[in-house]
Amino acid sequence: MDHEHVREVDPAVADALENEVDRQRSTLQMIASENHVSPAVLDAQGSALTNKYAEGYPGSRYYGGCEYADEVEELAIERATELFGAEHVNVQPHSGTQANQAVYFAMLEPGDRILSLDLTHGGHLSHGHPANFTGQLYEVEQYEVDPETGYIDYEGLSDLAEEFDPDIVVSGYSAYPREIDWERIQAAADDVDAYHLADIAHITGLVAAGVHDSPVGIADFVTGSTHKTIRAGRGGIVMCDEEYADDVDSAVFPGGQGGPLMHNVAGKAVGFKEALEPEFEEYAHQVVANAKALGESLSENGFSLVSDGTDNHLVLVDLRESHPDTSGGDAEEALEEAGIVLNANTVPGETRSAFDPSGIRAGTPALTTRGFDEADCREVGDLITRVIDAPEDEAVLAEVREEVDRLCEENPLYE
Ligand SMILES: Cc1ncc(COP(=O)(O)O)c(C=O)c1O
Repeated sequence: MDHEHVREVDPAVADALENEVDRQRSTLQMIASENHVSPAVLDAQGSALTNKYAEGYPGSRYYGGCEYADEVEELAIERATELFGAEHVNVQPHSGTQANQAVYFAMLEPGDRILSLDLTHGGHLSHGHPANFTGQLYEVEQYEVDPETGYIDYEGLSDLAEEFDPDIVVSGYSAYPREIDWERIQAAADDVDAYHLADIAHITGLVAAGVHDSPVGIADFVTGSTHKTIRAGRGGIVMCDEEYADDVDSAVFPGGQGGPLMHNVAGKAVGFKEALEPEFEEYAHQVVANAKALGESLSENGFSLVSDGTDNHLVLVDLRESHPDTSGGDAEEALEEAGIVLNANTVPGETRSAFDPSGIRAGTPALTTRGFDEADCREVGDLITRVIDAPEDEAVLAEVREEVDRLCEENPLYE
């Protein structure tokens, strides 16, 4: 990846792009929402479709010259339909947040009520946080995870739904390591005549591969990001039954967006094609096996995991018991110095702040893409332990960095 055309015009940006590829190659990307797309998806995303205006939908555009844009978007829709089995798919949302926005704009009026999981318990900004448009336009109540088990408190959710009478219940999370009982949340929403939006942003790939139960056919709306576990490049997707199709489509365009990012829609088409291959199912199983191995290794080393483990692609570590003097931010910084990139994260019952919380979140989608297996992930758990046990010990950080270099060489990326 030499970015030769960029280099001719703009050496400063070319340097940054090449340094970024080197950074991804030579460090462990463990941010749970990240992945490494294939060269084919990169190629599609860097294509001439970035030049094309295609406001509207295939066969009904506001601009001429859309025949190839139409082809690409139709392919993306076809493949997403095959992957997820939804009656209607819109592949134009610029991101997961825009996919959620489309559902809210389609079904709610300002002042309507959203019931969603608290951010510090694993929810997402676009589910009603005060700093997000959702918290400003709508009235929001939040459910939590059970403080004892770390699992969604489904009973509490139902009780809150009865009390609050929401217009929409949001499920699907950013930092929740367990499978989600879609039926149970649907039942709670049905009881109070609310819609149910299942946001599978993080687990889109696990659902596509059939490794996790799908909310399609259960929840009224299903949204996702296309760049996380599914490796289809930056973007979002909305799925729903045919009865809501027109409302959702108009809420995406012209309701919330202008012209679709057709180069990204091309990336989605290619990434979805890859996800239909049998290798993708193996990949998704391996992501989960790797997260379990990582979690076991960390638990054996004395760390406390929210919900005591994981069913998906991430583990959430609460540092308060094992390392009361180390914040998530301290851990994140020391780990990055040693070549392990993950993020500080709030934990249920957070006692520090959102800026320097008590936990770290670690995911395996990107490591699995570059070939890591369970043994590698156990080793990564040991490396994380060595760093967090001695975050200021430069010798330890240097030793771990050497082990990271070795693991990266054994599992090369973008050769
Ligand atoms: C549950 C959930 N929904 C939505 C999003 C937003 O996705 P995007 O960053 O693509 O807007 C995220 C991002 O991590 C997420 O975790």
